[in-house]
Amino acid sequence: MTSTSEFKHAMRHVPTGVTIVTSLKDGEPRGLTLSSFASASIDPPALLICVNREARSYLYISSSHIFCVNVLAGEQRHLAERFAGKVREKQFDGIAYEVDATGAPVLSESIAHFDCEVAAEHHVGSHSIFIGHVVSCRARSGSPLGYFNGGYHDFGIHVD
Ligand SMILES: Cc1cc2nc3c(=O)[nH]c(=O)nc-3n(C[C@H](O)[C@H](O)[C@H](O)COP(=O)(O)O)c2cc1C
Repeated sequence: MTSTSEFKHAMRHVPTGVTIVTSLKDGEPRGLTLSSFASASIDPPALLICVNREARSYLYISSSHIFCVNVLAGEQRHLAERFAGKVREKQFDGIAYEVDATGAPVLSESIAHFDCEVAAEHHVGSHSIFIGHVVSCRARSGSPLGYFNGGYHDFGIHVD
């Protein structure tokens, strides 16, 4: 098997979008910046995310069984930085959000959100793959934020 450093180096060459995955436990919202997001099934609509089990968010998602994937717009880079660990407490102070079906935060201005109920969890090494049934989703116009080689990039491609 390859080493983790070789793996991480090769993964830097893989371009992704950037999301903030939110959840809610005992009325407290929590979120993390996450790029390991993919569509998993069309019928029924389902997606997958991979979450480090050492992340605080892991406990929120695994116990509440809900999460919402917020796809960030190019101008939301500051949110990506904030939810990647810069702010430990009161993460949502000063941040505009609404809720949809599950009650997990939907970040205003994200270009799409997918509100999910956890259908399955699979442990893979350090991470858990959560399969989410999409109970509600919505798209908005905007240009997506991307991540490549350790840096953020605005795709600069507008979608309606
Ligand atoms: C661009 C980017 C993508 C990330 N993708 C993931 C991911 O897919 N899964 C994950 O567990 N952590 C990912 N992280 C790391 C988490 O955002 C980070 O560990 C965060 O501090 C976890 O917060 P928490 O412990 O408060 O839940 C990513 C970070 C960045 C900057």
